Amino acid sequence: MLNNLSKPKGKLGVLIAGLNGAVSTTFLAGTLAVRKGKAKPIGSLTQMGTIRIGKRIDANFPKIKDFVPLADLDDLVFGGWDIRNENTYESAKIAQVLKDSDLDVVKNELENIRPMRAAFQKQYVKRLDGDWVKKGETKYDLMEQIRNDIKSFKISNNLSRLVVIWAGSTEIYTPIHNVHKTLANFEMGMRENDDNISPSMLYAYASIAEGVPYIMGAPNLAIDTPALIDFSKKQNVPIAGKDFKTGQTMLKTVIAPMLKARMLGLTGWFSSNILGNRDGEVLDDPDNFKTKEESKLSVLEGILQPELYPELYANHYHKVRINYYPPRGDNKEGWDNIDIFGWLGYPMQLKIDFLCRDSILAAPIVLDLILFADLAQRSGMHGVQEWLSFYFKSPMHDVDKVPEHDLFIQLMKLKNTLRKLMNEHPITHLDTNGVEEFSDNIEEFLED
Ligand SMILES: NC(=O)c1ccc[n+]([C@@H]2O[C@H](COP(=O)([O-])OP(=O)(O)OC[C@H]3O[C@@H](n4cnc5c(N)ncnc54)[C@H](O)[C@@H]3O)[C@@H](O)[C@H]2O)c1
Repeated sequence: MLNNLSKPKGKLGVLIAGLNGAVSTTFLAGTLAVRKGKAKPIGSLTQMGTIRIGKRIDANFPKIKDFVPLADLDDLVFGGWDIRNENTYESAKIAQVLKDSDLDVVKNELENIRPMRAAFQKQYVKRLDGDWVKKGETKYDLMEQIRNDIKSFKISNNLSRLVVIWAGSTEIYTPIHNVHKTLANFEMGMRENDDNISPSMLYAYASIAEGVPYIMGAPNLAIDTPALIDFSKKQNVPIAGKDFKTGQTMLKTVIAPMLKARMLGLTGWFSSNILGNRDGEVLDDPDNFKTKEESKLSVLEGILQPELYPELYANHYHKVRINYYPPRGDNKEGWDNIDIFGWLGYPMQLKIDFLCRDSILAAPIVLDLILFADLAQRSGMHGVQEWLSFYFKSPMHDVDKVPEHDLFIQLMKLKNTLRKLMNEHPITHLDTNGVEEFSDNIEEFLED
């Protein structure tokens, strides 16, 4: 299977649920500008990153896009769904992430991208109202309509493959219920309009049913249920999620492994955010915030493993706050106050003030995930794609495994997966200097 990986033929459809949001329109405008040669894909590993192949002495560092046969940006065809019937140029203007001069470079292309009607129910995103929505007696009907959209988009654009990605609003917190536990329960639940089945789950089911990879960019329960994971394996479809890892949490997954690597203790970590975009408004509702909070909180426990290091981490206090503050728009400010202790318990502090831009950080992640999900599909990979954990705050993983949150372990996992896909040796960073038995097995263990 792996030997046959070659440059893909034909066009790749990209269908985005939440097509008119800040992340989506920033991704679209940027990708279209890059393919016109008017911008650089900064932040995108697939476009700018390199990968070491072979031994250090070989000094062979091709670009990732030259090493693995990814789809060309010229072959991407964009579409999607939203609850607002605007073209993506109008929406990008409303989002106020990119300057007019940057949007005008791709104005015609953006004006031609319009959403299909969304499967939407207000009870899952209480702060939004939508009039560009599908009608159906049951959730099963809505799901069937999404399937039809996917099919007709494929035919009318003469596509060879598709990827579906959720960059829609964060839905309310939903714990796992019986309806999520088996495929039969889930299918019955859609027919019976079970309240625990949200729109993002309908898009997920529809994509898998159509044999299309599904990526979950928001933190709510959607594809990470036994029913849909099982379905993705049956249908040979790769899935990945959840919650794009962009600002504060990305930093957390770099700083926390550093503290643990040096056996420095933690007494408290207070994270607060102000942001004023529509995402911030949605998260201002307590039920939607709870979804995000769970996702942001899970990271520290996973990295620090307090059960293994009780003297260092058992009693740390971790708080995450998100405050809706309209004047800042998409330009989020994330503060972290970190109380740590070192040798003999002496206290120290770290303060981080990240003045970031949410959608500027998320857009290249969307691009990479689309290209890698398509690669996974063409490689015959299916089910949860743990090697894409690099991109997520709450990386999906098999039930019998603990998640991996450390950004650099995640990167190593991603790159080794690419090496393996292309029949190259994974790199273990083993020190083989002067150890004969190790050097003998150099084919197996490529040292750093
Ligand atoms: N920007 C980041 O750094 C970042 C990081 C992690 C996760 N996210 C998540 O990505 C998502 C998008 O963020 P954003 O800033 O673009 O938000 P946004 O509010 O600008 O965009 C969301 C879009 O989804 C649409 N939508 C809502 N329900 C829908 C449905 N059922 N079907 C189709 N469309 C629907 C909305 O109308 C809106 O256009 C959010 O869930 C956010 O939490 C963003």
